[in-house]
Amino acid sequence: MADAAKPDIRPHNPDFSSGPCAKRPGYSLAALEGALLGRSHRAKEPKARLAEVIERSKTLLGMPADWRLGIVPASDTGAVEMALWSLLGARPVDVLAFESFSEAWATDIVKQLKLKDARVLAAPYGKLPDLAAVDPAHDVVLAWNGTTSGVRLTNADFISANREGLVICDATSAAFAMDLPWHKLDVVTWSWQKVLGGEAGHGMLALSPRAVERLLTYKPAWPLPKIFRLTSGGKLTEGIFKGETINTPSMLCVEDALDGLRWAEGIGGLPALIARSEANLAAIADFVGARDWIDFLAEDPKTRSCTSICLKIVAPWFTVLEADQQAEAAKKISSLLEKAGVAYDIAAYRDAPPGLRIWGGATVETDDIVALLPWLDWAYTQVVLEVSRQAAE
Ligand SMILES: Cc1ncc(COP(=O)(O)O)c(C=O)c1O
Repeated sequence: MADAAKPDIRPHNPDFSSGPCAKRPGYSLAALEGALLGRSHRAKEPKARLAEVIERSKTLLGMPADWRLGIVPASDTGAVEMALWSLLGARPVDVLAFESFSEAWATDIVKQLKLKDARVLAAPYGKLPDLAAVDPAHDVVLAWNGTTSGVRLTNADFISANREGLVICDATSAAFAMDLPWHKLDVVTWSWQKVLGGEAGHGMLALSPRAVERLLTYKPAWPLPKIFRLTSGGKLTEGIFKGETINTPSMLCVEDALDGLRWAEGIGGLPALIARSEANLAAIADFVGARDWIDFLAEDPKTRSCTSICLKIVAPWFTVLEADQQAEAAKKISSLLEKAGVAYDIAAYRDAPPGLRIWGGATVETDDIVALLPWLDWAYTQVVLEVSRQAAE
């Protein structure tokens, strides 16, 4: 059994939530001092700050020069919904649904947009769908990283370079932590509160030239509300991609996003961000590999996410419990850790199998992950002791 003694070392920062995610190391509110508060976002300087978020994000991510990037309402959900409602319906669509968020896009497409030619390529938590089934003549909707299962795509070989359809990629828990194959994608979305630890509420929508072409040549059969509209009078609303947001953004969040981007540039850009995240995954993999009570939810080690690191409890006593008892026992582990002040918000997502989800994005220090891990043994042991006590009564 794991050690019952409380570990001596504690994480310096106990924030391991999968969103909003930990602020960058050394963050303080002083980073926001230059925020253009009380100003119109349409005025020259505030608009320039919005454009700066766009330009710095593009450069940091290595986005191709002919792509457009805009700041849009309603976070990543807003960005994905804009893409789905603006672009889909022109041809059949394949949706990869392998955890809660990608399932939500499938529901939108099938039940709300009611697209007749939609195929849902589904897989249970822990697995990827049959990628070989993706048809290059179809549009494709996918999450690059399944935040609630901790399963990520490892490459884009299943996407044809000569595809006729568009690939709409929800990359909110992948952008800035994983290499994105831009040439195989047409729409990429994310939000500020994930890998760079920004403030929530704002979405990023990146469009390839092919996606823009679709916007200009196809008009959906359904009406589009103002916050989804990317065209006007048959023309692309170019201002969106230069910092002229559709509605009012928070200049405080903008300043915070810039702080995150500058921090990322300062530590060495995308390769450094990816390396930090991969180091966090590696630390957890070492720990899990040396334990027989815990394992990754992702079945194939290659698909293990380096951001939303999802773990399941595999001890025999646990696996024979009823589903609600499993959920309760797993929840107890995360609440013990929260009470001890060593890890906040690491219970598995509410719709996912019971377990733990530790955010390993770039703002999380590997030393903090390493300090947290012995506490998992500690909390698990407390739960085992309690279960044995209850069984003996
Ligand atoms: C893959 C994925 N898609 C969509 C969302 C929703 O993002 P937001 O809350 O930024 O709209 C999340 C949030 O965690 C996510 O992980």
